[in-house]
Amino acid sequence: MKFFVDTADIPEIRELSDLGLCDGVTTNPSLIHKSGRNFLEVIKEIAGMIEGPVSAEVVAEDHATQMREAEKLLTLGDNITIKVPLTLDGLKSCKALAANGTPVNVTLCFSANQALLAAKAGAAFISPFVGRHDDVGYDGMNLISDIRMIYDNYDFETEILVASVRHPIHILESAKIGADVVTAPAKVLKSLASHHLTDKGLAAFTADWAKTGQSIV
Ligand code: E4P
Repeated sequence: MKFFVDTADIPEIRELSDLGLCDGVTTNPSLIHKSGRNFLEVIKEIAGMIEGPVSAEVVAEDHATQMREAEKLLTLGDNITIKVPLTLDGLKSCKALAANGTPVNVTLCFSANQALLAAKAGAAFISPFVGRHDDVGYDGMNLISDIRMIYDNYDFETEILVASVRHPIHILESAKIGADVVTAPAKVLKSLASHHLTDKGLAAFTADWAKTGQSIV
């Protein structure tokens, strides 16, 4: 399973990259706002830092303007994935872009039927938002299981990119279901390494090592 980092924060991307935990980056207009940076500049910088796909989202709601925005975003790097919303106009843009070989990430997916439409439109990635689904009383992971089953039934190549990830259980369940990618905040990805028994065991080893009076270097 690939790990994408859901951020427009350059130091976070660098840190996760150095840890081998950044196979790609996803951004959205809210993350760009949070970064306080110019959209085009920050996307260009991210695309130059990593080899994997960098999702940059169009902001227009109509197909014609989405296509013009996509054209501009694609000049920012060879690894740009165009992110479009799961609307009829977004699907139309997805189909047109995919036909030209552009990878498209269809975002704001909240139902398996929406995911089916994205796959039929040739999306490289579908982004179901599990956390926001949980927030309104559904089990977001059921959505991932349903999409996995449907995509496998028809051999769709669209990758399931689990988004709106809030905690390690979302990642564990995504891996068990067989999602292709998770995109998560840096702090959630780093938290996967934590276990209190690891900390306890390390403290005991360190204490016993000190008692030997030895050093390795
Ligand atoms: C995905 O591409 C989105 O950027 C993101 O995962 C949304 O997450 P949120 O619900 O925490 O805003």
